[in-house]
Amino acid sequence: MARISIKDLVKIFGGYIAVDRISLSIRDGEFVIIVGPSGCGKTTTLNMISGLETPDAGEIIIGDMVVNDLEPGERGLGMVFQDLALFPHMTVFENIAFGLRVKKFPESEIVARVTSAAATVHIETLLNKMPRQCSGGESQRVALARTIVTNPSVFLMDEPLSSLDAKLRVDMRTELKSLHKRLGATFVYVTHDQAEAMTMADRIVVMSRGRIEQVGTPLEIYNRPSTRFVAGFFGTPTMNFIEGTVEANGNARLFRADGLHHPLSTAVPAALAGRKVVLGVRSEHVLIADGAELRGITQLTEPLGDATLVHFDDGRGHDLVAKVGPATGIQPGSAMCFRFASDYCHLFDTADGTRIY
Ligand SMILES: Nc1ncnc2c1ncn2[C@@H]1O[C@H](COP(=O)(O)OP(=O)(O)OP(=O)(O)O)[C@@H](O)[C@H]1O
Ligand SMILES: [Mg+2]
Repeated sequence: MARISIKDLVKIFGGYIAVDRISLSIRDGEFVIIVGPSGCGKTTTLNMISGLETPDAGEIIIGDMVVNDLEPGERGLGMVFQDLALFPHMTVFENIAFGLRVKKFPESEIVARVTSAAATVHIETLLNKMPRQCSGGESQRVALARTIVTNPSVFLMDEPLSSLDAKLRVDMRTELKSLHKRLGATFVYVTHDQAEAMTMADRIVVMSRGRIEQVGTPLEIYNRPSTRFVAGFFGTPTMNFIEGTVEANGNARLFRADGLHHPLSTAVPAALAGRKVVLGVRSEHVLIADGAELRGITQLTEPLGDATLVHFDDGRGHDLVAKVGPATGIQPGSAMCFRFASDYCHLFDTADGTRIY
């Protein structure tokens, strides 16, 4: 069973706490993506699972066994790194076969396994090429095949797509996702790219400064971010944030910030009245409509093709972004009316950023 469980894992580098007591359970066959900004401890966490780093405290369990004291090679894991490190003087076939040759597999089995792994990532025609004759995307697949061939029940991947251009990265996302389905193995994947995490993961683990901020499915993370950090990390453009206060008037709930006031969902608890909060609203939930209660002046527009971003200010120091249809006639400098979709307004604590509503 390729379940992985980590408990209260800690890693300290010379007094700096890189990983700060994180706990996580990964199910057999799950595709889990650890995401967060540079330096938040993703690689360190993955390296402790693989055995390349020794934890200062905590437990790592793979299947039913505590593996803290096992060497990387004894943990039954396959690793794919950002740095592909293909052997330049060996053909693609020999690169893929390398791990099997080390383990002295018979030639017939090597040929069968390499052929099958190559077919899995669609590089059957590259087997006689040298690595320098392969494109970035092809090399990436060779690196994957080299891991697939050893038949691990767990794949650990650290930014394996980071050396690829934008288009190829997007193509490889689809391929990795279907590869995961076909292999049925457990994938633990590290990236700083929120879009990669959203599109591929069964569950996302969001890290910040050595800690886990939230664990959830992509839609849970996007729709109900548990902290302001998570809310701001996911989604392009970044969520709009405005500091203000909650007010309650009978059944009505209101958000007020100097000069701007806006209805909130009636489900917002009355107990929050008077509380200082940060209102978060995504650009797709900022609605530009004639007759809406709030007024703004358009600063600039960014056509994306399928949508247009409208950057505007409300004349009271709030710079906001709305995502509107591609055919909008809104021009920079023009006045407009806007409101927020009340059911999609998130409220965070001003001090610690935790979700309040
Ligand atoms: N061997 C080391 N010695 C000292 N400090 C280290 C070492 N490895 C990592 N760190 C520090 O620990 C922190 C976490 O590093 P880690 O490599 O896990 O980050 P990351 O989330 O993978 O970042 P990135 O997205 O840039 O790869 C960083 O502040 C880093 O400088
Ligand atoms: Mg890293």
